[in-house]
Amino acid sequence: MANKICFINQKGGVGKTTTTMQTAAYLTKNGKRVLMVDMDPQGNLTSYVGVSTEDRNTVAELLLGEAGFEETVQSTPYGDIVPSDEVLGFKEMIITGKVGRELLLSKALKAAAEQYDYVLVDCPPAINTFVYNVFLFVDNVVIVSEPGVFSAQGSGKLIETVRETTGAYDRKINVAGVLFTKNNNTKLADTVKASAEALFERHGVKAFRTSIGTFPAPIGESQMACQSLFDYAPKSKVTQQYAAAIEEILEAVKQ
Ligand SMILES: Nc1ncnc2c1ncn2[C@@H]1O[C@H](COP(=O)(O)OP(=O)(O)OP(=O)(O)O)[C@@H](O)[C@H]1O
Ligand SMILES: [Mg+2]
Repeated sequence: MANKICFINQKGGVGKTTTTMQTAAYLTKNGKRVLMVDMDPQGNLTSYVGVSTEDRNTVAELLLGEAGFEETVQSTPYGDIVPSDEVLGFKEMIITGKVGRELLLSKALKAAAEQYDYVLVDCPPAINTFVYNVFLFVDNVVIVSEPGVFSAQGSGKLIETVRETTGAYDRKINVAGVLFTKNNNTKLADTVKASAEALFERHGVKAFRTSIGTFPAPIGESQMACQSLFDYAPKSKVTQQYAAAIEEILEAVKQ
């Protein structure tokens, strides 16, 4: 059975897409069959893996039943991807007007997901119909957060939202943990991280031991090169941090 994981935070720019990409790369390097699903109209994961959506179907057509999985999926060096672009944003109103709108992703990918060991979903920075679709599809949620006051507060609320949504559909979901990124280990970051950890504990959720530091250059350059950090900067400290963090994530999402 495929292990389905999403990377989420309603806050923007915290490292969701970067983390999804490294996880896909790590898993494919270890011989796993990976499907990535880009649920963000920004299409950042799609660009990162070097896929073009010009004249191609995207997750928007898949959700609306205008294209099947085989007509939408594309292959990349880091596994297969259901790509996304701004069309998903244009079609949001149509998608939210559908009966059963929260179950569209789950229905569209139910059979196809079984061809893979892991399905990794990159979420938009929002809580909207797209994200509810993700909650009703995946088994595991990884919250990606910066050690900032607002991020930490938002992550606490996010845990409640995840549980409310899945509870409403009688579905259990594992909040696998919180990954801190862009952590400079400043005094403020350490303080916020500690109080955030106490907040998460109250929800029964742990922060991963490994956090990711601030490394704009190798990450930005790897995006330009459409390569994972494991390929672009294998010796970099951030790459080692990601390897350790991903090991922890995979341990926490074991079914
Ligand atoms: N650890 C890091 N250190 C420094 N810069 C980073 C780090 N992780 C990500 N970035 C940079 O921060 C920006 C946002 O990263 P990313 O796109 O992964 O976040 P996101 O949460 O997916 O954003 P969005 O909410 O817009 O989808 C990018 O420019 C990326 O290069
Ligand atoms: Mg993103």
